[in-house]
Amino acid sequence: MTIWFVTVFPEMISAYLSESMFKKAVDNDLVTFHVWDLRDFTQDKHRQVDDKPFGGGAGMVMKPEPFFQAHDRLEELQGDKPFKVICPSPQGKLLTHQGAVDLANGDDIVFFCGHYKGIDERVMENLVDEEISIGDYVLTGGELPALVIADTIIRHIPGVLNSYESAESDSFADDLLEGPIYTQPREYRNLQVPDILLSGNHGKIDEWRYQQRLARTKERRKELLKAKTGKNDVGGKNG
Ligand code: ADE
Repeated sequence: MTIWFVTVFPEMISAYLSESMFKKAVDNDLVTFHVWDLRDFTQDKHRQVDDKPFGGGAGMVMKPEPFFQAHDRLEELQGDKPFKVICPSPQGKLLTHQGAVDLANGDDIVFFCGHYKGIDERVMENLVDEEISIGDYVLTGGELPALVIADTIIRHIPGVLNSYESAESDSFADDLLEGPIYTQPREYRNLQVPDILLSGNHGKIDEWRYQQRLARTKERRKELLKAKTGKNDVGGKNG
Protein backbone atom coordinates (compact mmCIF):
# COMPACT_ATOMS: atom_id res chain seq x y z
CA MET A 1 0.00 0.00 0.00
CA THR A 2 1.12 3.52 -0.70
CA ILE A 3 0.01 6.41 1.51
CA TRP A 4 0.51 10.09 0.68
CA PHE A 5 0.21 13.05 2.98
CA VAL A 6 -0.41 16.38 1.28
CA THR A 7 0.28 19.01 3.92
CA VAL A 8 1.63 22.48 4.67
CA PHE A 9 3.61 20.97 7.55
CA PRO A 10 5.57 18.10 6.01
CA GLU A 11 8.12 17.92 8.85
CA MET A 12 5.34 17.14 11.33
CA ILE A 13 4.44 14.06 9.34
CA SER A 14 7.98 12.95 8.47
CA ALA A 15 9.08 13.04 12.11
CA TYR A 16 6.33 10.64 13.06
CA LEU A 17 6.88 8.30 10.11
CA SER A 18 10.54 7.82 10.99
CA GLU A 19 9.87 5.98 14.27
CA SER A 20 8.33 2.81 15.65
CA MET A 21 5.65 0.91 13.65
CA PHE A 22 5.66 3.32 10.71
CA LYS A 23 9.41 2.88 10.32
CA LYS A 24 9.13 -0.89 10.69
CA ALA A 25 6.41 -1.02 8.01
CA VAL A 26 8.62 0.96 5.62
CA ASP A 27 11.80 -1.00 6.42
CA ASN A 28 9.92 -4.24 5.71
CA ASP A 29 8.56 -2.90 2.39
CA LEU A 30 4.97 -3.27 3.59
CA VAL A 31 3.97 0.37 3.12
CA THR A 32 5.38 3.27 1.14
CA PHE A 33 4.84 6.78 2.43
CA HIS A 34 5.17 10.03 0.50
CA VAL A 35 4.95 13.40 2.17
CA TRP A 36 4.16 16.24 -0.21
CA ASP A 37 4.42 19.90 0.67
CA LEU A 38 1.22 21.56 -0.57
CA ARG A 39 3.20 24.74 -1.25
CA ASP A 40 5.13 22.89 -3.95
CA PHE A 41 1.89 22.90 -5.93
CA THR A 42 1.40 26.66 -5.79
CA GLN A 43 2.30 28.85 -8.77
CA ASP A 44 2.78 32.27 -7.17
CA LYS A 45 5.96 33.61 -5.69
CA HIS A 46 4.53 33.72 -2.15
CA ARG A 47 3.51 30.05 -2.37
CA GLN A 48 0.12 31.05 -0.97
CA VAL A 49 -2.19 28.23 0.06
CA ASP A 50 -5.02 30.17 1.73
CA ASP A 51 -7.18 33.22 1.21
CA LYS A 52 -10.12 35.09 2.73
CA PRO A 53 -13.57 33.45 2.50
CA PHE A 54 -15.99 34.68 -0.16
CA GLY A 55 -19.00 36.21 1.57
CA GLY A 56 -16.89 37.42 4.47
CA GLY A 57 -16.35 35.96 7.92
CA ALA A 58 -13.45 35.09 10.16
CA GLY A 59 -10.54 32.84 9.27
CA MET A 60 -8.83 31.78 6.08
CA VAL A 61 -9.84 29.10 3.60
CA MET A 62 -7.41 26.78 1.84
CA LYS A 63 -7.32 27.54 -1.86
CA PRO A 64 -8.41 24.95 -4.42
CA GLU A 65 -5.59 25.24 -6.98
CA PRO A 66 -2.75 23.54 -5.04
CA PHE A 67 -4.97 20.57 -4.19
CA PHE A 68 -6.11 20.21 -7.81
CA GLN A 69 -2.49 20.41 -8.99
CA ALA A 70 -1.43 17.79 -6.45
CA HIS A 71 -4.33 15.57 -7.53
CA ASP A 72 -3.31 15.90 -11.20
CA ARG A 73 0.19 14.78 -10.25
CA LEU A 74 -1.19 11.81 -8.31
CA GLU A 75 -3.27 10.75 -11.31
CA GLU A 76 -0.19 10.97 -13.52
CA LEU A 77 1.84 8.87 -11.09
CA GLN A 78 -0.83 6.28 -10.39
CA GLY A 79 -2.03 5.77 -13.97
CA ASP A 80 -4.73 3.09 -13.76
CA LYS A 81 -3.99 2.32 -10.13
CA PRO A 82 -6.89 3.60 -8.01
CA PHE A 83 -6.38 5.74 -4.94
CA LYS A 84 -8.70 7.12 -2.33
CA VAL A 85 -8.50 10.73 -1.16
CA ILE A 86 -9.31 11.16 2.52
CA CYS A 87 -9.74 14.50 4.20
CA PRO A 88 -9.61 14.37 8.00
CA SER A 89 -12.39 16.63 9.22
CA PRO A 90 -14.67 16.98 12.23
CA GLN A 91 -17.51 16.95 9.65
CA GLY A 92 -16.56 13.44 8.55
CA LYS A 93 -17.79 9.96 9.34
CA LEU A 94 -16.45 8.78 12.70
CA LEU A 95 -13.39 6.52 12.46
CA THR A 96 -13.99 2.98 13.75
CA HIS A 97 -12.04 -0.26 13.96
CA GLN A 98 -14.05 -1.69 11.05
CA GLY A 99 -13.50 1.46 9.00
CA ALA A 100 -9.74 1.08 9.47
CA VAL A 101 -9.86 -2.60 8.45
CA ASP A 102 -11.78 -1.67 5.29
CA LEU A 103 -9.29 1.06 4.40
CA ALA A 104 -6.36 -1.34 4.97
CA ASN A 105 -7.93 -3.77 2.50
CA GLY A 106 -8.64 -1.07 -0.05
CA ASP A 107 -6.84 1.23 -2.46
CA ASP A 108 -3.79 3.40 -1.94
CA ILE A 109 -4.61 6.41 0.22
CA VAL A 110 -3.98 10.13 -0.04
CA PHE A 111 -4.56 12.41 2.93
CA PHE A 112 -5.40 16.02 2.19
CA CYS A 113 -4.55 17.79 5.44
CA GLY A 114 -6.62 20.89 6.00
CA HIS A 115 -5.86 23.95 8.10
CA TYR A 116 -7.37 27.26 9.09
CA LYS A 117 -11.17 27.35 8.54
CA GLY A 118 -11.04 24.44 6.12
CA ILE A 119 -10.64 23.66 2.43
CA ASP A 120 -12.53 25.22 -0.50
CA GLU A 121 -15.68 23.15 -1.11
CA ARG A 122 -14.74 22.51 -4.76
CA VAL A 123 -11.89 20.33 -3.51
CA MET A 124 -14.18 18.51 -1.10
CA GLU A 125 -16.82 17.87 -3.77
CA ASN A 126 -14.59 16.96 -6.68
CA LEU A 127 -11.42 15.42 -5.27
CA VAL A 128 -12.13 14.09 -1.79
CA ASP A 129 -13.64 10.61 -1.61
CA GLU A 130 -14.18 10.48 2.12
CA GLU A 131 -14.13 12.85 5.10
CA ILE A 132 -13.17 11.09 8.32
CA SER A 133 -13.43 12.43 11.86
CA ILE A 134 -11.36 10.94 14.68
CA GLY A 135 -13.74 12.22 17.36
CA ASP A 136 -16.25 14.86 18.33
CA TYR A 137 -13.78 17.62 19.06
CA VAL A 138 -11.91 20.07 16.86
CA LEU A 139 -8.16 19.95 16.23
CA THR A 140 -6.10 22.76 14.73
CA GLY A 141 -5.16 20.86 11.59
CA GLY A 142 -5.44 17.64 9.62
CA GLU A 143 -1.92 16.32 10.26
CA LEU A 144 -2.52 14.62 13.61
CA PRO A 145 -5.81 13.02 12.55
CA ALA A 146 -4.21 11.87 9.26
CA LEU A 147 -1.45 10.20 11.27
CA VAL A 148 -3.99 8.66 13.64
CA ILE A 149 -5.96 7.23 10.72
CA ALA A 150 -2.76 6.01 9.00
CA ASP A 151 -1.56 4.41 12.24
CA THR A 152 -4.72 2.41 12.70
CA ILE A 153 -4.75 1.41 9.00
CA ILE A 154 -1.20 0.08 8.88
CA ARG A 155 -1.78 -2.13 11.94
CA HIS A 156 -4.12 -4.16 9.74
CA ILE A 157 -1.62 -4.70 6.93
CA PRO A 158 -0.29 -8.27 7.22
CA GLY A 159 3.25 -8.32 8.61
CA VAL A 160 3.24 -4.88 10.27
CA LEU A 161 2.41 -6.32 13.69
CA ASN A 162 3.89 -9.55 14.95
CA SER A 163 1.46 -12.30 15.90
CA TYR A 164 1.50 -11.38 19.59
CA GLU A 165 0.54 -7.80 18.91
CA SER A 166 -1.93 -9.04 16.31
CA ALA A 167 -4.66 -6.61 15.31
CA GLU A 168 -7.23 -9.42 15.58
CA SER A 169 -6.76 -9.42 19.35
CA ASP A 170 -7.27 -5.65 19.63
CA SER A 171 -9.94 -4.07 21.74
CA PHE A 172 -12.78 -3.31 19.32
CA ALA A 173 -11.97 -6.28 17.07
CA ASP A 174 -14.79 -7.91 19.06
CA ASP A 175 -16.31 -4.74 20.55
CA LEU A 176 -14.79 -5.37 23.98
CA LEU A 177 -12.19 -3.29 25.78
CA GLU A 178 -8.94 -4.91 26.86
CA GLY A 179 -8.76 -6.25 30.40
CA PRO A 180 -5.97 -5.73 32.96
CA ILE A 181 -2.48 -7.12 32.29
CA TYR A 182 0.44 -7.73 34.64
CA THR A 183 4.12 -8.56 34.49
CA GLN A 184 6.98 -9.16 36.97
CA PRO A 185 7.35 -8.69 39.86
CA ARG A 186 4.54 -10.78 41.36
CA GLU A 187 4.41 -8.42 44.30
CA TYR A 188 5.40 -4.76 44.39
CA ARG A 189 4.83 -2.44 47.35
CA ASN A 190 2.43 -5.02 48.65
CA LEU A 191 0.45 -4.87 45.39
CA GLN A 192 -0.28 -8.40 44.15
CA VAL A 193 -0.82 -9.96 40.77
CA PRO A 194 -4.21 -11.81 40.83
CA ASP A 195 -3.69 -15.46 41.88
CA ILE A 196 -5.60 -16.81 38.90
CA LEU A 197 -2.87 -15.60 36.52
CA LEU A 198 -0.29 -17.64 38.44
CA SER A 199 -2.45 -20.77 38.56
CA GLY A 200 -1.26 -22.30 35.29
CA ASN A 201 -4.88 -23.24 34.47
CA HIS A 202 -5.27 -21.72 31.01
CA GLY A 203 -8.96 -22.52 30.65
CA LYS A 204 -9.69 -20.63 33.85
CA ILE A 205 -7.32 -17.82 32.92
CA ASP A 206 -9.07 -17.35 29.56
CA GLU A 207 -12.48 -17.25 31.22
CA TRP A 208 -11.23 -14.78 33.88
CA ARG A 209 -9.75 -12.53 31.20
CA TYR A 210 -12.97 -12.58 29.23
CA GLN A 211 -15.03 -11.71 32.32
CA GLN A 212 -12.64 -8.86 33.11
CA ARG A 213 -13.09 -7.49 29.59
CA LEU A 214 -16.85 -7.71 29.87
CA ALA A 215 -16.90 -6.04 33.27
CA ARG A 216 -14.62 -3.23 32.12
CA THR A 217 -16.65 -2.65 28.95
CA LYS A 218 -19.87 -2.63 30.95
CA GLU A 219 -18.43 -0.11 33.42
CA ARG A 220 -16.74 2.23 30.93
CA ARG A 221 -18.39 1.80 27.53
CA LYS A 222 -21.79 0.21 28.01
CA GLU A 223 -22.91 1.29 24.53
CA LEU A 224 -20.39 -1.13 22.97
CA LEU A 225 -22.16 -4.06 24.61
CA LYS A 226 -25.53 -2.77 23.45
CA ALA A 227 -24.19 -2.53 19.92
CA LYS A 228 -22.82 -6.08 20.17
CA THR A 229 -25.89 -7.81 21.60
CA GLY A 230 -28.75 -5.41 21.07
CA LYS A 231 -29.31 -5.51 24.83
CA ASN A 232 -27.63 -4.49 28.07
CA ASP A 233 -26.34 -7.78 29.37
CA VAL A 234 -24.22 -10.55 27.89
CA GLY A 235 -23.51 -13.98 29.29
CA GLY A 236 -20.25 -15.94 29.61
CA LYS A 237 -17.47 -16.46 27.11
CA ASN A 238 -19.48 -19.08 25.22
CA GLY A 239 -22.92 -17.67 25.85
N1 ADE B 1 -9.60 18.19 11.90
C1 ADE B 1 -9.93 18.97 12.95
N2 ADE B 1 -10.57 18.28 13.88
C2 ADE B 1 -10.66 16.99 13.43
C3 ADE B 1 -11.23 15.81 13.93
N3 ADE B 1 -11.84 15.75 15.11
N4 ADE B 1 -11.12 14.69 13.19
C4 ADE B 1 -10.52 14.72 12.01
N5 ADE B 1 -9.97 15.82 11.47
C5 ADE B 1 -10.04 16.95 12.17
